[in-house]
Amino acid sequence: MTTTTDWTAVERSVFFQTGRRAPVTLVRGEGAYLWDDQGKKYLDFVAGIAVVSIGHSHPALVEAIRRQAETLIHVSNIFYTVPQLELAQLLVEHSCLDRVYFCNSGAEANEGAIKLARKWGKEQKDGAYEIISTLNSFHGRTLAAVTATGTERYKAPYAPLMPGFINVPWNDLQALKDATTEKTCAVMLEPIQGEGGVNMPDAGYLQAVRAWCDDQNLLLIFDEVQTGVGRTGTLWAYEQYGIEPDIMTLAKGLAGGVPIGALMAKESVALTFQPGDHGSTFGGNPLATAAGYAVLKHIIDNDLPAQVAEKGERLRAKLAALEDRHGGIAEVRGLGLLCAVQFEQDIAEEVATAARAEGLLLNNLRPNVLRIAPPLTISDAEIDEAVAILDRVLAARTAKGGS
Ligand SMILES: Cc1ncc(COP(=O)(O)O)c(C=O)c1O
Repeated sequence: MTTTTDWTAVERSVFFQTGRRAPVTLVRGEGAYLWDDQGKKYLDFVAGIAVVSIGHSHPALVEAIRRQAETLIHVSNIFYTVPQLELAQLLVEHSCLDRVYFCNSGAEANEGAIKLARKWGKEQKDGAYEIISTLNSFHGRTLAAVTATGTERYKAPYAPLMPGFINVPWNDLQALKDATTEKTCAVMLEPIQGEGGVNMPDAGYLQAVRAWCDDQNLLLIFDEVQTGVGRTGTLWAYEQYGIEPDIMTLAKGLAGGVPIGALMAKESVALTFQPGDHGSTFGGNPLATAAGYAVLKHIIDNDLPAQVAEKGERLRAKLAALEDRHGGIAEVRGLGLLCAVQFEQDIAEEVATAARAEGLLLNNLRPNVLRIAPPLTISDAEIDEAVAILDRVLAARTAKGGS
């Protein structure tokens, strides 16, 4: 489909200017590929920022949405609905958590986690309400979630912020211990910092945080909005560290692109919420949860996490080989299909722009970092195609005298 409308101009005139976009209007997707309004085809290594877990318009997801849309789209959480409870059962069966609450986004799931931890602190820990999170973390844009987020520029415009949040450096156990007081009720972490740069936990860090939480009677909240649902090569990232959180939040890949969020908790913590304590009009509606069920079931039944682990190794090995060929790459890191390429210089935007011209979509996450997060269903051939494009882009830069 080609159009003559300049959608970028329409956006500039009618849309809130809250973010920067790449100048491309996408109109169709299939598997790992997208097409723009001019008919140009792209290999998608952004996947809606780790959302399109089983690829664009996967038949299992399309069929689940179609069937549910024909049956029942929305009622209200004042009634029982089947898809919601089927997805909740599947999540509980396949995780260490015991109860689920559905909402519509990652930020909203984290708001729920923060409220749950505060109420737990009020009732179980003498009114403790402080939550410790890390610098460079990202927990969402709502007021409490952005206060927990460890990036100053996201918060500064909205001061005064919510009281009761402390940021400590990532991978610094002593700082976390020093920040703990009798007012602390929880520690909130991404097992791998996603938006902050795909920053990996040091060996033993997450386990030591778990031990500290046990020692101090603090809740451990894992924000698995980005790392969950198979992205890192296990269904949940916590599995790879041999520990269990008390609370886990999910969103992004859970319904493959249909908006959904989930708050999960251990039984004793979940029971803190009593009828009337929390709620949502849309959260867990039949359409979103039928989509979530189809996606999660597909991921589990096809053991996608095991494939993701292998594909991630292959992708990182090929990316690391680009350093041997072109130089200028400081680090290739990640777990499963949540990867980053860190350059020695601030060239991520230039590389992403050149790759887009060659038909590969990448996310320039930081001035010097590309995030690489294709659909979990990506094939070896598609990985090879993406790395070949990146290879050509880096070779062209070198030929032009770029350093
Ligand atoms: C770890 C993490 N938590 C929370 C969020 C916020 O999710 P949402 O944009 O759905 O509100 C994100 C989004 O990137 C995230 O990566």
